[in-house]
Amino acid sequence: MSPFLEVDDLHVEIPLPYGTLHAVRGVSLTADAGEAVGLVGESGSGKSLTLRALLGLLPQPARITGGRIVLDGVDVTALPARERRRLLTGAMGMVFQDSLTALNPVMRVGEQIAEAPRRKLGMSAARAKARAVELMDRVGIPDPERRYRAYPHELSGGMRQRICIAIALSGQPRLILADEPTTALDVTIQAQVLGVIESLREADGVGLILVSHDLAVVSETCQRVYVMYAGRVVESGPIRDVLGAPRHPYSFALLRSVPDPDVPVHRLLTIPGQPPDLMEEAVECPFAARCLFVADACRQQNPPLVTLPPDRATACLRYQEADRWSDLVADSPVPEEVR
Ligand SMILES: Nc1ncnc2c1ncn2[C@@H]1O[C@H](COP(=O)(O)OP(=O)(O)OP(=O)(O)O)[C@@H](O)[C@H]1O
Ligand code: SF4
Ligand SMILES: [Mg+2]
Repeated sequence: MSPFLEVDDLHVEIPLPYGTLHAVRGVSLTADAGEAVGLVGESGSGKSLTLRALLGLLPQPARITGGRIVLDGVDVTALPARERRRLLTGAMGMVFQDSLTALNPVMRVGEQIAEAPRRKLGMSAARAKARAVELMDRVGIPDPERRYRAYPHELSGGMRQRICIAIALSGQPRLILADEPTTALDVTIQAQVLGVIESLREADGVGLILVSHDLAVVSETCQRVYVMYAGRVVESGPIRDVLGAPRHPYSFALLRSVPDPDVPVHRLLTIPGQPPDLMEEAVECPFAARCLFVADACRQQNPPLVTLPPDRATACLRYQEADRWSDLVADSPVPEEVR
C-alpha cells in the first residue's frame, strides 16, 4: 500500500539578487496514515522550507523547482495550482513555532478556529462555533466557551499554541505538520503541548511530521526520523535504530556527546565547522569539511542516498564502517552543547 504522503526528490530554490540559493536539494520522505515522523537537522538545513513547500506556503521568493508530492495516491504536483492548494490544505494542518505571529492579533481566537469549519467544511456559523469550542476543550483549554472570545494577546504562550493546534485540526486534516511547535515555550509547557499533539494523534489517527531541534522530543514522539543536512536527507530510519546505531557521521556527531547511554539525548550539538554554501552546487560530500571520517573518495562526489533494507537509508560512502566509528573517536573531545 502506498503511504498517505510521499515526497519525491523535492527541490526548493530562492532567487536572490546575488545568485540562487538551492535550499532544498532533492528531499524524499514518506508519512503513513497515523504515523509520527521526525525531521531533525541544524539551523538552515531546509526543514521549514520542506514543510512549507508541502502546503504551498513558501515565503517569497522561494519556489519549488522540482520533485513530486503524492497525496493519498494523487500526484498533486500535476494539478493546477488552485486545485493543488485545496487538496494539500484540506489534508494537512500546520502548527508553527511562533504562535504570536501565526495568529491574527485582531480576531477572537475562537473565530480563528471556526474559520476552517465554515469555509472548508461548509458548516453554519452556529455549528462551526460549537466545533471550535469542542476543539478548544480537546486541546486542553479550560473554560473554552469564555476563552472563545479572547484575543491572542490575552492568552499565555502555551494556551496560544494550543489554539494553533486547534486551528490545525479544525479542517479535519489527516496529517499535522508541526515546525518546532514547542521551542518558544518553557519546558513544562512544552511537555504539555506535545502531550496534546500525541493524544490527538492516537485518538484520531492523525499523522504527524514534527520538526525539532530536540532529539529527545523526536525520540519520545516519533516512530521514524529523517536527519537533514544542507538541504538533503542524509539519514533516515526507525528512530530507535538511528539513535542506537547511526549510519551517517552527521547523525553520529549529533549523538556523540551523550556521555551515558541511560541519559536521555537532548539538544542538537554544535559540530565544529560550517555547512556548505547553498549557492554552490555540491561536487563533494557536503559534510566532508566537518566529517571525522572523511576520505579522498568523499571529495570526488556527492554521495547518493543509499537504501539499507528493510527501512533505513544513508548518504555516506563509508557507512559500512559505522560500527567502528565509536572506537575511532573514543579519545577525541566532545563538542559543546547549544540551546
Ligand atoms: N525567505 C528567505 N529568503 C532567503 N533565504 C531564505 C528564506 N527562507 C529560508 N532561507 C534560507 O534557506 C535555507 C533553509 O532555511 P530553512 O528555514 O528551511 O531552515 P531550517 O532547517 O528550518 O532552519 P531553522 O532550524 O533555523 O529553523 C537557509 O539557508 C535559510 O537562510
Ligand atoms: S561520505 Fe565521507 S565525508 Fe561524507 S559523511 Fe561519509 S565519511 Fe564523511
Ligand atoms: Mg525552521
